[in-house]
Amino acid sequence: MGRLLFDAWMRSSFRFNGFFSAALFLGSLVPVFSQQVTASAHGVQAVDQGMTMQVTALREDVLRVRIWRGGTKPEDASWAVLPKARTSAVDVSATASGFHTQKLRVEIGAGLKLTVSDLDGHVLQEDASPIAWRGDGFRLYKKRAMDEHFFGLGDKPGPLDRGGQAFTMWNTDNFGWQESTDPIYKSIPFFIDFREGRAFGVLFDNTWRSFFDFGREDEHAYSFGAPNGPIDYYLMYGPEPKEVVSTYAWLTGPTPLPPLWALGFQQSRYSYYPEAEFMAIASRLRADKIPSDALYLDIDYQKNNIPFTVDPEKFPKFPEMVKELAKDKFHLVVITDLHIAKQAGVGYKPYDTGVAGDHFVKNPDGSTFVGPVWPGPSVFPDFTRAQTRKWWGTLYKEFASEGVAGFWNDMNEPAVFETPTKTMPDNIQHRIDEPGFVKRTTSHLEIHNVFGMENSRGTYEGLLALEPNVRPFVLTRASYAGGQRYASTWTGDNSSTWNHLRQTVPQIVNLGLSGFSMTGADVGGFAGSPSPELLTKWIEYAAFQPIDRDHAAKGTRAHEVWADGPEQEAIRKRYIEERYKLMPYLYTAAEETSRDGIPIMRPLFLEFPHATSDGHPMDLDTGGGEFLFGGRMLVAANPSPEEVNPYEVHLPPGTWFDYWTGERFERATKGQRLDLEQRDKLTQDKPLMITPKLDTLPVYVRGGSILPIAPLTQSTEEAPNGPLTLRIYLSSDASEPCAGEVYSDDGKSFAYRKGQFARVRFTCKIRPDGSMAVDAAQQEGSYTPWWKTYRIEVYGWTPKDRKVEVEGKVLELTQSGVAWAVEVGAERNGVSVALR
Ligand code: GLC
Repeated sequence: MGRLLFDAWMRSSFRFNGFFSAALFLGSLVPVFSQQVTASAHGVQAVDQGMTMQVTALREDVLRVRIWRGGTKPEDASWAVLPKARTSAVDVSATASGFHTQKLRVEIGAGLKLTVSDLDGHVLQEDASPIAWRGDGFRLYKKRAMDEHFFGLGDKPGPLDRGGQAFTMWNTDNFGWQESTDPIYKSIPFFIDFREGRAFGVLFDNTWRSFFDFGREDEHAYSFGAPNGPIDYYLMYGPEPKEVVSTYAWLTGPTPLPPLWALGFQQSRYSYYPEAEFMAIASRLRADKIPSDALYLDIDYQKNNIPFTVDPEKFPKFPEMVKELAKDKFHLVVITDLHIAKQAGVGYKPYDTGVAGDHFVKNPDGSTFVGPVWPGPSVFPDFTRAQTRKWWGTLYKEFASEGVAGFWNDMNEPAVFETPTKTMPDNIQHRIDEPGFVKRTTSHLEIHNVFGMENSRGTYEGLLALEPNVRPFVLTRASYAGGQRYASTWTGDNSSTWNHLRQTVPQIVNLGLSGFSMTGADVGGFAGSPSPELLTKWIEYAAFQPIDRDHAAKGTRAHEVWADGPEQEAIRKRYIEERYKLMPYLYTAAEETSRDGIPIMRPLFLEFPHATSDGHPMDLDTGGGEFLFGGRMLVAANPSPEEVNPYEVHLPPGTWFDYWTGERFERATKGQRLDLEQRDKLTQDKPLMITPKLDTLPVYVRGGSILPIAPLTQSTEEAPNGPLTLRIYLSSDASEPCAGEVYSDDGKSFAYRKGQFARVRFTCKIRPDGSMAVDAAQQEGSYTPWWKTYRIEVYGWTPKDRKVEVEGKVLELTQSGVAWAVEVGAERNGVSVALR
């Protein structure tokens, strides 16, 4: 809120008569005469012993809480929260002890004790004790119930549920991090609280070295705080977890629609060189018919690791090479680290223009800070200045004009070598020169966690300025809340171990819940060398994860799909091919993210929050291997992928189909917490027992789904040749809607924003006579997609006559495995098909 707005807020408020005894309203016998509560149109402000708490309703289901000491209200600015959301407000109804909106009730008790409930009286969040101050530092304690679960916080390793653990937010280059390592690369101070099937979210918008404790110190309380900076947090009510995720996207912006090619298979390595070796990788991918879209150049393509250079000895024909790759339907992504080599007087433009524009961060004495990274002594752009980001963006001009398709912003925690902190000193000076912020200079302590995000923002916005009609692809390692607006991300330097393969599930799922939908983990593991079996299994998982990038550290053994001979290659290739066939489904999920923030890879509780009898998230029953790929497919990976014993797969209630075989499963009851003996006595809905096999990754489809599937291509640049297959999976519950959709556009530009896209919604229904109606609604949008026909493929239904009626014609239904299929014209103004 700006100063003017704040004044208006104060003027519009009215005061309770005299001093207000909050404690009496709460039924306590201890009157508190020091607390003064002022109601306003949009919330309430309470003052107690020099401390002010302001609670504002941004929406009926979103509150913002700010607390400060002394008379001066802190600056109201945010790197994470969009200005439009931050300045929203709705009218509230004042109550004796606070206010209520149409969804939430806020009570302020003695000592500024805050309680937030829903209108049915379920307490969502309640202060456990007063704020604890230590100098400028503070910590807020909230009551914790034992059945409360916590998700989010970005890519932090460890189990999916953050309950019982504590975390620090401090972006850290943690090469070879392990399951218990904290912090690693990103700081996303957002979590979802889930209890008894009800969810709400909390964004603690403080960029300092903040911390979270979900019941580790005291099992009856969770807490968060920071050594400095504002107490400023947002509460987002569900009750459905999907609503919380969408509201978080409203607050911080969704992951934008990526270029289609970014969803293809990506091959990387630290480092491919020289040019001939790199091009041999491209040729081999095509020769072996491994569908692929992107190739990466890591730091060795540069001259002495100096960003924005190309080593002419290793890559003598760089511009021609980019063109040749494009001809072969490959997109080139190059690394462009943020550290600028301190190379004065040698015609190195990034340094010279950076010095001329005063774009580098400084030591307290005003000299430029210099620290060693890949190129040796380096300087660091002051990314919290709008003009520095603008200058940074211009550095991409040449690469963009040469046709380089994507850019990789690594090391942006920022990583600094030869220092135990792995980053720049705390007292480095950053300038904030940014619309919405007070222009000022501050220490690294405040900027560290947003540095990487602002680096990727500079890249993203710079690319947009250079090519306004091309969707940028930026891959960043470090980020902060809201960073999904600018870049995709990966989980950094993982290891080639089975445990790290396992970790990809909770990490990518939690990143998705934290706003980052376009994410992946280095396939095969970065540090170390995977066994052939590990690499194969990893490629299987990654086929169903948002970003599928095979990457490896220098000095490790070959990681490419063909590395371990034809038998392994055949399995790996089959999974990558499946991803390409599922591209219409995947792209449709990515487009959904770009509108409502629902991530591509999801935990089970996001789609099935009421799947258990006591409202616990059902992901906790699965051992951690299961996840959803889009809203309709469930991948049931082995929770301990190196184990050979059969493992349990738990399916949510409803009808499910094996994606590979079409076999049907019915789940009638909600999940329950059972001990082993009780489990053995189950007569129905026993977990499926899966015997692990190297070449199989169990995948299931939810009954009531229509999946759009394409003929195989070798690159997303190739138009699929043949029908769009609609795989229809019927639920045995006739009241379950049967639906699906497909989204398509040119995959590259922003023309879709002007209506040049194609969205078709499909439905199906069993009629009383047992026949089935399949409808494709009229296409939305003016884009002409690649398909001209639909191949309708039905699972879980048997025809009587094996006939199809469409447009007055009668066709034959043919059997295809356990499914029944027919091909019909894909009329743009809609198609109605009757199968009998
Ligand atoms: C960092 C990155 C890794 C990259 C390497 C060299 O370790 O995380 O992905 O290959 O630097 O640039």
